Amino acid sequence: MSEPSPEGRIWDLLRGALGTRALAIVADLRVADALAEGPRGIEELAREVGADAETLHRLLRALASDGVFAENEPGVFRNTDPSEVLRQSGWDDFAHLFGGVWLRAIEPLGATGEPTFPRVFDTDFWSWLADHPGERAAFDRAMEQGKERRIERLAGLEWRGDETVVDVGGGNGANLAGLLERHPRLSGIVFDLPETVRDEEALGDRVTFVEGNFFDTVPAGDVYVLSTILHDWDDERAAAILGTIRAAAPSGARLVLIESVIQPGNEPDGSKWLDLLMLTLFGGRERDEAQWRELIEGAGFEIERLEDGLIQAKCP
Ligand SMILES: C[S@@+](CC[C@H](N)C(=O)[O-])C[C@H]1O[C@@H](n2cnc3c(N)ncnc32)[C@H](O)[C@@H]1O
Repeated sequence: MSEPSPEGRIWDLLRGALGTRALAIVADLRVADALAEGPRGIEELAREVGADAETLHRLLRALASDGVFAENEPGVFRNTDPSEVLRQSGWDDFAHLFGGVWLRAIEPLGATGEPTFPRVFDTDFWSWLADHPGERAAFDRAMEQGKERRIERLAGLEWRGDETVVDVGGGNGANLAGLLERHPRLSGIVFDLPETVRDEEALGDRVTFVEGNFFDTVPAGDVYVLSTILHDWDDERAAAILGTIRAAAPSGARLVLIESVIQPGNEPDGSKWLDLLMLTLFGGRERDEAQWRELIEGAGFEIERLEDGLIQAKCP
């Protein structure tokens, strides 16, 4: 494909909010599921998903121009590889959040460094989710998106075999359950807020769910996994979470962070955009190597490995 023109680059960014919203609409209507068996005419499709046929046609035509769905013949749409992604675990919920509550929070974002979610919704994101159980469930499912790569990373670390792994802010437990499936002698604790939507039975006998607040305490364990937790918080709050872990962890306990490490340069990198979402929602941030070192060593841990996607450290 040829490089977009300079105007094309600007245009692609300008229309971004419309694309975000269009994806959320078709995800909420479950259009990709309705096309699972093959191409369908727009009238029939719109009837099934409960949409206005002309509007759905306009939405799908626009998305198809970016390769999400394809118009086989006039008014007949089918799935494509990208639209099939909306049928994979977590991605439809991710689209729902991006084009719903997150888009509303982004609208007043400025260059002040202030998170806008609390201004728009009059509360912080976690409290808002607690008050909206359907959105909380969507969030917990959305976090499963990409879990295979996280589980692969965790499973590939060196394990003695009999450790207790504490997944701090472990959500619905999908990462920990996946890790324990690969290492049958490990046991684990998912530690998260009480309102997390999870199926504790499905997590199996070796996983316990413990409710709590990581600014107060965390359970004792041998290995503390924090997967995309610290990027939700500014440096002061992130250091406080690490401080809680240090207070609970025995000497020699391991800290494993599944987090982006922003690389220098201008390569395309989704985490540079997620950084702005973290700012919007929480006043959080993605960090580069120097920022991670300052945060982790400042909290008294010794860094053993630091690469994009994985940071390991030890409690002295
Ligand atoms: C970005 S999600 C990451 C979920 C999971 N670790 C993953 O990788 O999919 C952040 C998690 O932190 C949890 N969390 C937020 N504030 C918390 C607190 N004060 N105490 C414990 N967990 C908290 C949220 O409920 C959420 O599940």
